[in-house]
Amino acid sequence: MTVLVTGGAGYIGSHTCLELIAQGYDIVVTDNFCNSLPEAVNRLKTLSGTDFPFYRADVRDADAMDGIFKNHEIECVIHFAGLKAVGESVRLPLMYYGNNIASTVQLCEAMKRARVKKFIFSSSATVYNGDNDMPYTETSRVGDCANPYGRTKYMCEQILRDVSAAEKDWSVVLLRYFNPIGAHESGQIGEEPDGIPNNLMPYIAQTAVGRREYLPVFGADYETPDGTGVRDYIHVADLARGHVAAIRYCKQYTGCDEFNLGTGRGTSVLELVSAFEQATGVKIPYRIEARRPGDLPLYYAATDKAAKVLDWRAEKTIAQACADSWRWQSRNPNGYKA
Ligand code: NAD
Ligand code: WQD
Repeated sequence: MTVLVTGGAGYIGSHTCLELIAQGYDIVVTDNFCNSLPEAVNRLKTLSGTDFPFYRADVRDADAMDGIFKNHEIECVIHFAGLKAVGESVRLPLMYYGNNIASTVQLCEAMKRARVKKFIFSSSATVYNGDNDMPYTETSRVGDCANPYGRTKYMCEQILRDVSAAEKDWSVVLLRYFNPIGAHESGQIGEEPDGIPNNLMPYIAQTAVGRREYLPVFGADYETPDGTGVRDYIHVADLARGHVAAIRYCKQYTGCDEFNLGTGRGTSVLELVSAFEQATGVKIPYRIEARRPGDLPLYYAATDKAAKVLDWRAEKTIAQACADSWRWQSRNPNGYKA
């Protein structure tokens, strides 16, 4: 089966490309490099020993997408391409709606023209309403998101539900990722945020490598065991396997279904810092600062549905994720830049 991966040069897309190749899928990859670099694609080709077709294109470019569908017998699309920085989405909402919503709509239209009917969408735990009880299950309330980025994911989910209701032979899978961390065990590919990292693990890793002086810990007065925020951190390699499980599911299912991809376990900021120090032997200086506006104290995933229906579970530990993040960051202190 040939799978089109949009945003395949990015953090989660690149790891999923490697897993797809390892599992015997043919891949076609597209990315416009608005948040990634061509070097990621070079490394994917070297690591996998596969010269897969890559197109530098924007998913919103209908001609480019039609060309890709014409050139290849694509059966399934995994749509990673999108913008993901929460703070930036508050400052530049039109850029977020313009990219995340339009790319999803345009991609569905191109798929319709090419009669491709299997769609896997990168959604997020951020679609859940923060007032839900823990853990978030797939039936927990969604919507009322805290920022424009979250709203784009929520809106795309609604759009895809409507599309699948109209196109009865489509198979749409919404994958709600919790907090992806870690890197490929080779240390060759990983997460390289542009500028100051928004997310915790890249901030820790950049502090460890000396690019940041200390880690700001956003709040230590939450009602959590140690006062710092608790999240469900999932190794990106486990997440990549989740996409392969979703493709298998698409083969025997039509409609629109959603799954949490998380571990079911919560880890606090200070626990992650300590796990990183233990896994790497590197001390992480940190300072307790004010809470970050919009942050929730604690959330984690219910994982039963993915286990039962997709036969998928996260397997890697936080310690492995820390060791892998460090291997990537220490061997590539400036990411993909030479
Ligand atoms: P990323 O920024 O590393 O990867 C996204 C890729 O898409 C980038 O390479 C970027 O250049 C590309 N892209 C963006 N807009 C494009 C467009 N219009 N046309 C073509 N390419 C485009 O992000 P990631 O962490 O790998 O996230 C992948 C997906 O998963 C995103 O949709 C994101 O919202 C979602 N997600 C991420 C997280 C997370 O914490 N990383 C959590 C939940 C959901
Ligand atoms: C985790 C914890 C912070 C940085 C975001 C998006 C979400 C999803 C994943 C895409 C929190 C604390 C962080 C730092 C800190 N992305 N922290 N110091 O906020 O759970 O989720 O990324 O869908 O939509 O909102 O992840 O890694 O930013 O924060 O103390 O420098 O680490 O307060 O408790 P978050 P995060």
